[in-house]
Amino acid sequence: MTSTPSNKTDIWSADAYGTTVAPFVAALTNKIVAWLEPQPQDEILDVGCGEGVLTAKIAPHVKRIVGVDASPNMIESFNKTFPGVDARVVDCRHLDKDQSLCNASFNKVFSNAALHWILRDENTRTNAIKGCFDALKPGGLLVSESGALGNVAEVHAAIIGALVHQGIPVEAARNASPWWFPSLDAMKNLVESQGFKWLKGEVELRQTELTNNEGGGIEGWVRLFGADFLSLLATEGQREVAVREVVQVLEGVGRRQHDGAFTVNYIRLRFVAQKSP
Ligand code: BEZ
Repeated sequence: MTSTPSNKTDIWSADAYGTTVAPFVAALTNKIVAWLEPQPQDEILDVGCGEGVLTAKIAPHVKRIVGVDASPNMIESFNKTFPGVDARVVDCRHLDKDQSLCNASFNKVFSNAALHWILRDENTRTNAIKGCFDALKPGGLLVSESGALGNVAEVHAAIIGALVHQGIPVEAARNASPWWFPSLDAMKNLVESQGFKWLKGEVELRQTELTNNEGGGIEGWVRLFGADFLSLLATEGQREVAVREVVQVLEGVGRRQHDGAFTVNYIRLRFVAQKSP
């Protein structure tokens, strides 16, 4: 669920991610797990597995599952919490270079809430999908859910606005985005370009209630997931002003009227694609 290119600071902490800010990422997965249809004979590669909550849930139902994630912090937590499940640090932007995984030994590649990080860089986008293809046996399936065009748009726009108010040029602020949120057609074109047959896909609005925890909520969300944007600002003071602005702007957008819960408009893109038998 995360991506930390090896030349960058590892911003991920399993506690901040899975407990405080975004426990819903692993929890709201019924639909994509139904599309995965785990079977006792399955050998699954979980791309962007994060701290492994979902990987470990699937593990007892399949023959083999290997979780890979670019964040050493996440994999360290994964290995501590689920020592019986195979988890490895792999920069999935270059998955096709990993011969230990890309050897046609899996019958399913699974990815939840990770491809929007992994596919951010246009230069390595096809390497990641080619890696998924090469990891699969003939007839194998790629089953994925990630952010679609317009995902978390209100937060995304508010962060860019706050950076601009701190003197960052709008283009630099836009380019600092760590995410690629494609349309369904853009994703379909990408996976087909690497040899997959598109079997099915859908886009769904999922209004997601944030946590109410200390360190969570919209402020925690912005600090954790917006870290790449905030790093454009030179001082701690500027970063604090930007976070305050984002929170205040979004207060008028995401606060639910009937119970005061805070929601963000996640838009999910799910698909299943197949390597020809
Ligand atoms: C997502 O799962 O869609 C997501 C999570 C964090 C930041 C951006 C998007």
